[in-house]
Amino acid sequence: MCSLSLLLAAGFWCLSTVAATATRPDKIYGVNLGSWLLIENWMLPAEWERMGGERCDDCSTCISSEFEFAKAYPDTVDEMFEEHWNTWFNQNDVDELVSLGINTVRIPLGYWIVESLVNRDLEFFPRGGINQLARGLKQLKEAGIVAILDHHALPGAAAINQLFAGQCTNSPQFYHRFNYNRALIWAAVMTGLSHLHPDFSTVFSIHAINEPIMNASRTPGHGDYQRKFVKTVRAMESLLGIGTFDGTYKAKRGEDLLYISVDVGLAFSSSTKENCPFGDVCDVIIEALPILGEVLDQLGSLELSSVFGLVGQPPLETNFMDVTWQYNNPPNAADIAMGPQSYDNHLYYNFGGVADPNPKAYLTHLCNLDRVENAVKNRNVPLWFGEWSLATNFNETNTTDAFLRDWADAQKLQYGKDAGWIFWNFKIENSTLAGETARQWSYTEGVRRGYFTRDPAAYHNASVCEQYIIRNSTTNSTSSSA
Ligand SMILES: *[C@@H]1O[C@H](CO)[C@@H](O)[C@H](O)[C@H]1NC(C)=O
Ligand SMILES: *[C@@H]1O[C@H](CO)[C@@H](O)[C@H](O)[C@H]1NC(C)=O
Ligand SMILES: *[C@@H]1O[C@H](CO)[C@@H](O)[C@H](O)[C@H]1NC(C)=O
Ligand SMILES: *[C@@H]1O[C@H](CO)[C@@H](O)[C@H](O)[C@H]1NC(C)=O
Ligand SMILES: *[C@@H]1O[C@H](CO)[C@@H](O)[C@H](O)[C@H]1NC(C)=O
Ligand SMILES: *[C@@H]1O[C@H](CO)[C@@H](O)[C@H](O)[C@H]1NC(C)=O
Ligand SMILES: *[C@@H]1O[C@H](CO)[C@@H](O)[C@H](O)[C@H]1NC(C)=O
Repeated sequence: MCSLSLLLAAGFWCLSTVAATATRPDKIYGVNLGSWLLIENWMLPAEWERMGGERCDDCSTCISSEFEFAKAYPDTVDEMFEEHWNTWFNQNDVDELVSLGINTVRIPLGYWIVESLVNRDLEFFPRGGINQLARGLKQLKEAGIVAILDHHALPGAAAINQLFAGQCTNSPQFYHRFNYNRALIWAAVMTGLSHLHPDFSTVFSIHAINEPIMNASRTPGHGDYQRKFVKTVRAMESLLGIGTFDGTYKAKRGEDLLYISVDVGLAFSSSTKENCPFGDVCDVIIEALPILGEVLDQLGSLELSSVFGLVGQPPLETNFMDVTWQYNNPPNAADIAMGPQSYDNHLYYNFGGVADPNPKAYLTHLCNLDRVENAVKNRNVPLWFGEWSLATNFNETNTTDAFLRDWADAQKLQYGKDAGWIFWNFKIENSTLAGETARQWSYTEGVRRGYFTRDPAAYHNASVCEQYIIRNSTTNSTSSSA
């Protein structure tokens, strides 16, 4: 027995036997665990106000984000968030998801969950989320539900005036070398945890960046980040004896594995890059190893036995938004894949720009959707639809129960064509302030109201699209809008 974290920090390796990392289900029937470890107050306005948060039209002008909250309440923020984390997602929620046949969750996370990445002089976020993540993953694992770790709120903020960025700002600072580097360290740490920590063994994929700015001219370096993200994940895995790195660093069994791991670990501990085989992500790995050690310490000591337990674990799926998310000559992550990789498409009709605002136009557009076909052309498969909802942008008198039933069926049909779908969100607060938000944004409420079938693989009407399919025309391109 030895303490993994101490040995990691010392640059030596003593690895545990852990359950194999999960793999993607044949078909994903999933929900997002939104507003759990990353709050967007519109999903829980009453709780947010009770905590001391505020809501405002221009989210940069009040205490609306986690950043502003932590800044305003430095002494109590951790305690308040601890309570939120415990109540918003717990065993009752897991049980409900199991009863509804959900097999996958996507977990939106902020970079600050890896606490030493935060510059506390300038950046304000709650602490303790990593223990909650481990707690939730353990409950999910016991329930047989697999997980995608979604880097949703990136260092410096990667989206404009969005609560989901963790900080509401019109000047996102993510797309710079320093912040890319922090995001890569985050990826290295999450990769290490996913393979080493038993509670994380239900993780099968890590999402590199949620919804980057769509205009690729405004995300300089994004392609390089994608490339290094893949390299970072694979470098960590090859350190652990999993998979291959650039074809040169093969996982080996038995003595050889021990040798390779110890060798590279020692090279890093002596702060020399001489023996580092990972090219331009060596710095990231060198910085990440002690942080991984700290995080493992924070999570408590592990029972460790054998160095050979990791061999044979499947590598993680690196996951990216598909290339149509951006315009202006975006990088295609398919070009830099190394090992298993999957893609994520998000489609919301309610923000406009997709179809005319009426039921018939929605269903006509949806039933003729060509996104999976485009993804095949772009080599962006397997593809899942990682965010969608029942929200509309037309008059509520037209948003009838009958329509929402058809709308739910049709979206499941279309989004389930390849790897599957993940609804946003698993729940919405039930309160006067939240009003009817749950009706179109909560999966569990959607089931209660009969829009979703209890069995996610079933439909009320599997022929719902029949009358909307335009048989005699090439289907229209719907790229880059969501
Ligand atoms: C995209 O970003 C570039 C650089 O900021 C800008 O010049 C261009 O107008 C933007 N395009 C659109 C459609 O907003
Ligand atoms: C496809 O495009 C044509 C011509 O632009 C348009 O008339 C038709 O309504 C579109 N069909 C769908 C399903 O959007
Ligand atoms: C409802 O949608 C129909 C078209 O499907 C439209 O003619 C009607 O005006 C809409 N009603 C309202 C109240 O928006
Ligand atoms: C919906 O349409 C009805 C009837 O046209 C109208 O009275 C109501 O104000 C509209 N509601 C919204 C939210 O636009
Ligand atoms: C939501 O709250 C209302 C009023 O308290 C209650 O009647 C209803 O059952 C609640 N719904 C759920 C799903 O808990
Ligand atoms: C199922 O959808 C088809 C096509 O829209 C429709 O013709 C049929 O009546 C629907 N069936 C039921 C049971 O609603
Ligand atoms: C179907 O579309 C093709 C190509 O647009 C056209 O040549 C053909 O005449 C159409 N057939 C019918 C029955 O409309």
